[in-house]
Amino acid sequence: MTAHHTLRQFLLSEEKQGKMSSDMVLLIEDIATSCRIIAHKIRNGAFMDILGTADTSNVQGETQKQLDVIADEVFQEHCANCSRVAALVSEEIDEVIWLKDKPKAGDYLVYYDPLDGSSNLNVNISVGSIFSVVELEEDLVDVADAAVLIKGAKQICAGYALYGPSTSLILTTGHGVNGFTHKIGNGEFLMTFPDMKVGPATQEFAINASRARKWDPVIKRYVEECLDGTDGPRGKSFNMRWVASMVAEIHRILIRGGLFMYPMDSGNAKTGGKLRLLYEANPMGFIIEQAGGKASTGQGRILDVQPTGHHQRVSVLIGSAEEVDLIDSYYRDAQ
Ligand code: AHG
Ligand code: MN
Ligand code: MN
Repeated sequence: MTAHHTLRQFLLSEEKQGKMSSDMVLLIEDIATSCRIIAHKIRNGAFMDILGTADTSNVQGETQKQLDVIADEVFQEHCANCSRVAALVSEEIDEVIWLKDKPKAGDYLVYYDPLDGSSNLNVNISVGSIFSVVELEEDLVDVADAAVLIKGAKQICAGYALYGPSTSLILTTGHGVNGFTHKIGNGEFLMTFPDMKVGPATQEFAINASRARKWDPVIKRYVEECLDGTDGPRGKSFNMRWVASMVAEIHRILIRGGLFMYPMDSGNAKTGGKLRLLYEANPMGFIIEQAGGKASTGQGRILDVQPTGHHQRVSVLIGSAEEVDLIDSYYRDAQ
């Protein structure tokens, strides 16, 4: 049987090679602990009666699940352990959570979606957690929420946990993408997916097709051409998937390629799309780019979008490079 490296062995080796700081090692270990705790709560959620809806909504007006709130508390508690973390930005919390009064340049900002795909909880389908880390570029005299509006291109770490049949933890610190699986028994994350890659070509795409009447002409054209299969301009058959859990879709793409789309459409244009830039689109964009894929809004690279608000939403096209390039070219043609 292959001997798998533990997450700790991997992190310490990366630190030794100068690929991450000792503070980042501690932070990632604390995030991994958060994910282990959340996985346990999800698996036992039915016994604790916590799979349902909370009596609250988040700032985005979405009804929260009890586990959205619980997972947020777990992340807040554990991310605060690392003394270099200056602020947390959570999908579930309206304001930026400042942990320092006078943050310094180089301090970490952690963005996270504590539970992604939470509408899947009570039907026992995969959900996940997503996180992203950037460094503050300058000392702050006073804390100001505008200081967290940093482009995705500046991320120094991103990852997600997928709570599926097994719990996976996928990580990048800008030196490729590596995946770990939580081993039931000793509780460790062991490396099971080293150096994950997304091939340039695919015959699989994911989009919520119930929104088809709201799509813009470019998305309509792209999907119609895929559905036309071997008889159409693409000259090949396409398969379609929709889990309604971005973490599960991105994980599938990292394992076997594909394209994930949640475009801005006439139904979500007022908010700029559905998925959030800082804690959904940016971390997943960074991971997919590090694996050789692409991440675009249709108007440019997601990681180059200058954030204007910490709960900002954005159009998302992410996955195998040839498909993202093709849709981008359709948007250019349409201009
Ligand atoms: P969240 O549960 O964090 O609010 O995110 C759900 C997101 C994403 O995971 C998924 O791709 C998408 O919303 C599902 O949207 P539909 O409900 O339109 O299928
Ligand atoms: Mn989400
Ligand atoms: Mn969420």
